[in-house]
Parts: sequence; C-alpha cells; structure tokens
Amino acid sequence: METLFIGQQLIRISRTDSTNNHTIELLRQSVIPEGTIVLAEEQAKGRGQRGRTWESEPGTNLTFSMVLYPVFLLPHKQFALNQAVSLAITEVVSDITRREALIKWPNDIYVEEEKISGILIENAIRDEKLVRSVVGIGLNVNQTKFTPDIPNPTSLKLQTDRDHDLEECLGMLCGKLESRYLQLKSKPQVIVEHYLERLYRQGQWTDYKLKGSRCKAKITGISEQGELLLEYKGGRQAAHTFHEVEFIH
Ligand code: BTN
Repeated sequence: METLFIGQQLIRISRTDSTNNHTIELLRQSVIPEGTIVLAEEQAKGRGQRGRTWESEPGTNLTFSMVLYPVFLLPHKQFALNQAVSLAITEVVSDITRREALIKWPNDIYVEEEKISGILIENAIRDEKLVRSVVGIGLNVNQTKFTPDIPNPTSLKLQTDRDHDLEECLGMLCGKLESRYLQLKSKPQVIVEHYLERLYRQGQWTDYKLKGSRCKAKITGISEQGELLLEYKGGRQAAHTFHEVEFIH
C-alpha cells in the first residue's frame, strides 16, 4: 500500500454482519490506529443510508470500513468528510472506467444514471468535537447481476466489460482517500469547490419530490451543514435535509 496511514493496517474478515458494526465494536474494545481498514468478503447485513440494506455478492466487490479521527472538524462541518470521501471514490471510478463519475447528493456515486458506490459514515461526537469516524464504503467491482429491488445498480465490470483486481482497486481507493483527507485538513475550501463540480444534476432544472409533493427545481449548492440548496421557478431558494427531498428519475 503506497500510503502514509490509510490502509496500512488492514483487517480482513471473511464474514461479518456489517463492517461498520464490526469496526465500531473493535473501537470499543481496543485502540485502533487512524487509517485502519476493516474489509469483509461477505456482509450478512450490510447497512445503507436511510436504514436500507447494502447488497453485495460475496468475494466480488469491495465492502470495507475505515477508521478516522477527524478532531480538526467541528461537528457542524462534519459533512465535509462525506464530501472528501465522495470525491476520492469518484476519482477512482473515473480513472478506472474512463467515464465521468458524479456524486448524487449526499453521497452516492453514480456513472451516468446508475449507482456504483455508496457511503455510510458514522461519527461520534464528544465535547463538541468529532472524535471518531467510521467510514463505510461499498463499491461494486465485479458483480454483474443484482436483485431487482436495487433501483439502478452498476459496477466497474459492467462499465468496462472486464474483471478488476480487488486489491488493486483497494490500493487506488486508499491513495485517493488519503490525499482528499489530508486536503480536507489543509485546504477544506478546495474540497467544497471540487464537490460542487462533481455534483449530479448541479444547475439543471429537474423534478424533485419535496416533503411528499413533486416540484421543479435546480441545485445551486450545498450548505456547510450538508443541506441541498434548491432554487425554484420564480427565484425562491431553500435549504433541504436528506429526509425532506428525493430525486425523481
Ligand atoms: C448507501 O448507499 O446507502 C450506503 C451503502 C454503504 C455500504 C457500505 S459496505 C461497507 C460498510 N458496511 C456497511 O454495513 N455499510 C457500509
């Protein structure tokens, strides 16, 4: 691994319920160095956003969690970590597929209209500080068939028509995750700018479901707290949380 700390400690497990759960449990029991990765071949109960599950064929994709101690981030700025992680994955996906990968707010990674990767970050806050972060990442690598209830999945193999080496992909991810994390520490504004450049549907008038009803709006940005800033026809602007707004395809 050509990194300073991300992935230098790699804990491989063949099967667990969820690598995020497993990592949180490890953190309870012992001191884990920053950058440690817990990688599972199989998750029995992989967790996704909004209480959803994350499905992944055993041994075919990357499902792992990374331990970070982002004490330099104030809790109200914790979304910046999602932004840095999303950017790192997007870069790796673009490098491998030679296609533009975009971030569907808040942190799904898309190639065109299909989802290739998901992120689940679980933070612990103590005394107004972000004391630890478990960054869970699922990246579809060599899976080509998905169960029908997954809305619009894709994988590196589906995008490129060839198999990919999991270790190589993990190495690339660790490298990009480390550079974006260090950049978050030293130049956080750059992360915000690059995230906006990579944002799916940014600046386009499209349909959204907002608190249950359909409306046309345009993404104009992201607030510091990670809310989606939408502009409506007529010029009104509003900030929305993840629970209020849904994309319509
Ligand atoms: C989502 O798209 O809703 C987020 C998916 C996150 C999945 C990863 S796989 C590794 C880690 N362990 C989990 O249980 N979830 C994350």
